Amino acid sequence: MAMPVVNTEYLKEIDKARRDLRALISNRNCAPLMLRLAWHDAGTYCAKTKTGGPNASIRNEEECAHGANNGLKKAIDWCEEVKSKHPKITYADLYQLAGVVAVEVTGGPTVDFVPGRKDSNACPKEGRLPDAKQGAPHLRDIFYRMGLTDKDIVALSGGHTLGRAHPERSGFDGPWTQEPLKFDNSYFVELLKGESEGLLQLPTDKTLVEDPAFRPFVELYAKDEDVFFRDYAVSHKKLSELGFTPS
Ligand code: HEM
Repeated sequence: MAMPVVNTEYLKEIDKARRDLRALISNRNCAPLMLRLAWHDAGTYCAKTKTGGPNASIRNEEECAHGANNGLKKAIDWCEEVKSKHPKITYADLYQLAGVVAVEVTGGPTVDFVPGRKDSNACPKEGRLPDAKQGAPHLRDIFYRMGLTDKDIVALSGGHTLGRAHPERSGFDGPWTQEPLKFDNSYFVELLKGESEGLLQLPTDKTLVEDPAFRPFVELYAKDEDVFFRDYAVSHKKLSELGFTPS
């Protein structure tokens, strides 16, 4: 599929779509699901084979049906409402824009957004996204495959400051923080406190406190929200641009 032409007109449509996404995400309280959609589209990237990544292949039934993507069809359908009003914008740009807007409207940092991604129908094989039941070596296998670092792993895991797990989707249950619609550093504060009644910590979340290379970032982000926001914005931008070179 061809690269979209990012001219003044395209940028104008991006601006309008951004406004539509703000309204849609606020009205439906769906920031967490939109962030998860952007992450699951991008997080299949393999730096070695240059396959997967933020290319909207997740909208195809084959990939959408992967177990890790349970529940995301709703977010894909909501994005379609915005796509139909701004058909020039690629799905790949739209899903990443939705992720950026989700962080913004819940009080998180501004993540720089550069448009121009092309859409693909090439679905990666199932199993490229992380398995919540595993530990540090698995997390590193998955994120290093994308070309990301230990710091990116910890900063991006802070995305769990938003939303919750649903038994019917993942088998896990509950939110990570007391205010799952507020993007802040409470995910890291809770991680250092250990288990609390009513809050969730996945095995992969707990690994961040246990692993000696991950832990210093958890401590830093729990103590200093400004540093977390700065690092998160950098890592989120990297995630949203895996395999993509802006023209
Ligand atoms: C939800 C696993 C990284 C954002 C979830 C759920 C699981 C999970 C099991 C629950 C899904 C459900 O039942 O609805 C993991 C694992 C990760 C990871 C193993 C490895 C580090 C990330 C990253 C982001 C992210 C990097 C974004 C930057 C979210 C959000 C939700 C979520 C926002 C809540 C969705 C909702 O409320 O519907 N994740 N995740 N996750 N994840 Fe992650």
